[in-house]
Amino acid sequence: MSLTENLIRADVRALSAYHVPDASGFVKLDAMENPYLLPVALQHELGKRLGALALNRYPVPTYAGLKAAICDKLGVPSGFDIILGNGSDELISVVSVACAKPGAKVLAPVPGFVMYAMSAQLAGLEFVGVPLREDLSLDLDAMLDAVRTHRPAITYLAYPNNPTGNLFDAEAMLAIIREVGNSGLVVVDEAYQPFADDSFMPRLPEFPNLIVMRTVSKLGLAGIRLGYMSAAAPLLHEFDKVRPPYNVNVLTEATAAFMLEHNDVLDAQATSIRVEREQLAARMAALPGVTVFPSAANFILLRITRPGLTGTQVFERLLERKVLVKNVGRMHALLDNCLRVTVSTPAENAQFLAALESSLNS
Ligand SMILES: Cc1ncc(COP(=O)(O)O)c(C=O)c1O
Repeated sequence: MSLTENLIRADVRALSAYHVPDASGFVKLDAMENPYLLPVALQHELGKRLGALALNRYPVPTYAGLKAAICDKLGVPSGFDIILGNGSDELISVVSVACAKPGAKVLAPVPGFVMYAMSAQLAGLEFVGVPLREDLSLDLDAMLDAVRTHRPAITYLAYPNNPTGNLFDAEAMLAIIREVGNSGLVVVDEAYQPFADDSFMPRLPEFPNLIVMRTVSKLGLAGIRLGYMSAAAPLLHEFDKVRPPYNVNVLTEATAAFMLEHNDVLDAQATSIRVEREQLAARMAALPGVTVFPSAANFILLRITRPGLTGTQVFERLLERKVLVKNVGRMHALLDNCLRVTVSTPAENAQFLAALESSLNS
């Protein structure tokens, strides 16, 4: 038996590492990044601020100043605190580890964000996926049945959902939160909230089992890796013991604090991405052989419906035209022949549209 066979868990050996394709030379529309850089004046100001930091010191692990600024500027209800993560990926892992009692389960609609299942598995929880309906809406009856059958410790609802881009029905989500009651936690993952018109953040005071999780990644700061989540104080108190003490580095902390002083810049970028999303969706929908799903996020899900042409073929033809989108067709049967494209600048969106049109016709 080899060293790895001897030591590493069989389920870990059977996994593939999270794959990120090399995007150099491509129009990169596969990862829901904001395409805009900071204005040059802000880049310089931020550079000065970061240059003056005491890199020789550990961060102050309470992160009190940054947390207060986030609570103040990003709509956390008064009296509620947050905890910070190295991206919301880390927060998902913190919640999983904290709830990993023997036999504990995680529930989420599928197709959904892959880290819910991955994080559950790594922490030793069983993952139960409940398929969305054909139109990619939440199957409320199936979700309620699954809650009653499995009594999950954690239920994830991404609002808007990835990779589908839609906002689930808020009343259906409330019914799930109520059905879960005090037997589990419901994480409403609002990674794409800057592009949507609704949020569960204001509802936190109503539900002691509700966690609202967000990230600054889609807002234009994917590189700094910062997520935050809010919930009732007794829950945050426990999660904070699982969080690695210095999980947010001083460069991230200072950059986030700086950007909150200038959040009008990121807000304006999000607004233009929303405008572009509507135009891109309308132009794609006008192409014969393409079905476009409604999006409240900074990406759009589309299905190739031209007879004799698969989503994978179109994906490959886009690659030949130096455009990288996400081929989600293999993720789940409901996403057959589907591609997911990030909304970008007007120029990149036009490049994508031209490449898509010629890929459909070649
Ligand atoms: C629904 C959802 N939640 C969380 C994340 C992870 O965000 P972060 O970059 O903060 O780890 C993503 C990233 O794609 C996502 O789609």
